[in-house]
Amino acid sequence: MEKVLSYIESNKEQYLSELTELLSIPSVSSLKEHQGDMQRCAQWIADHMEHIGMHNVKIFPTEGHPVVYSEWLEAPGKPTVLLYGHYDVQPVDPLNLWTSPPFQATVRGENLYARGASDDKGQVFIHLKSVEAMMKNEGALPVNLKMIIEGEEEIGSDHLDAFVEEHKELLKADLVLISDSSMYEKDVPSICYGLRGLAYMEIELTGPNRDLHSGSFGGSIHNPVQALAEMIASLHDKNGRVTIPGFYKDVRTLTKKERAAYKKLPFSDKKYAKDLGVRELYGEKGFTTLERLWARPTLECNGIWGGYIGEGAKTVLPAKAYAKISMRLVPDQQSAKIAKLFEKHIKKIAPKTVTINVRTLHGGEPAITPIDSPGVEAAVSALEKGFGKKPLYQREGGSIPIVVQFKKILGIDTVLLGFGLPDENAHSPDEFLNLNNFYGGIRTSAHFFNELPKFWKRPSKKR
Ligand code: BES
Ligand code: ZN
Repeated sequence: MEKVLSYIESNKEQYLSELTELLSIPSVSSLKEHQGDMQRCAQWIADHMEHIGMHNVKIFPTEGHPVVYSEWLEAPGKPTVLLYGHYDVQPVDPLNLWTSPPFQATVRGENLYARGASDDKGQVFIHLKSVEAMMKNEGALPVNLKMIIEGEEEIGSDHLDAFVEEHKELLKADLVLISDSSMYEKDVPSICYGLRGLAYMEIELTGPNRDLHSGSFGGSIHNPVQALAEMIASLHDKNGRVTIPGFYKDVRTLTKKERAAYKKLPFSDKKYAKDLGVRELYGEKGFTTLERLWARPTLECNGIWGGYIGEGAKTVLPAKAYAKISMRLVPDQQSAKIAKLFEKHIKKIAPKTVTINVRTLHGGEPAITPIDSPGVEAAVSALEKGFGKKPLYQREGGSIPIVVQFKKILGIDTVLLGFGLPDENAHSPDEFLNLNNFYGGIRTSAHFFNELPKFWKRPSKKR
């Protein structure tokens, strides 16, 4: 490992300039105008996999954006790791709030700013570099490795389930490794063992059959924007609980042990509120902030629109109002079931003055991953070596829907080894990756591959 580690140390500049190149491709999966960039980004990753010595590199087309695959299977008897990540990124708007252009990665202080720096191109690249360092210096990896890097994570991984089903044999492995989450805080590495699920809905409310003059008609018609606002406001009660009947029915109760463990983590509501610029926090009564973030379900209005939002004033009583609403889910809630409950409730509370249309945009199941596994033991040891600190165990509020599908379809557990930070502005302007975590991540990844066979007690069949 010494040679590997000193190689990593002496190639930092090179890594940074390569990552800058990867981050310059605007691979925004949700926008049609970036379709070509999605292809270009998949190709860049495939070429890079080839360059670091991966075998059988393939770009698989899907009905959406392509999946990039590669493997290195020259370690007979050693465990096989399936590395998953995503090369797609979220849109950059509002663009004017970025300090430097989102696709021109820029170093400021100890951070690298760009869309995708943390979520998730930077974290994918961490593993590519550790593999390169091992291949260059040892001529081999200590484990077998398969990689799938997809292009639709940020839009719900719609075509990935079918891809995994179809390529079960190709993807066969002993465990999944994902770096698409965060450390607990700066200098505090962590192992994540829980993610929330998601049910994402869109509502369309129609009032009159056309936009109306608000003077001539105001007072006779229920404004759909007002009706929608009233409906959305009623989705929480005064205790911050979601009012949809049955919403909490399948929620797994937090164990005493887990609550006690969360309480031990360093966390200050005051500091958290200050960092986010709010005077007070909000959420379900009876639970701490970490409990609400990690282990309780929530409902958020992601966007609401309708009527006139252009320059100046226009006196109009709009015909339509819309909202996007997502619910974060926890075990044992099921995305499809919650989507149905939502639809039923929203239709029930819609006043007779409007007609309503509800659509499910996408969903994903919540995940809890085991922490008493050789994969996690190896990750703990690797983090200790890579960051010089013992990691702590945490859950996260975000979602990576494929985690549960890997378990269902391939029968394997995931190790969530995040190198991001909770305040890295993922999905918002000025996203960044902390460079200490970038280099620490590369060291940790190398250690992980090196440690895994030592912890892997079960004999592994040749794959
Ligand atoms: N990297 C995130 C997932 C994540 C966020 C993990 C925060 C841990 C903490 C991922 O890229 C993401 O944003 N996922 C989406 C999934 C959705 C589109 C189905 C999410 O959580 O909104
Ligand atoms: Zn994301």
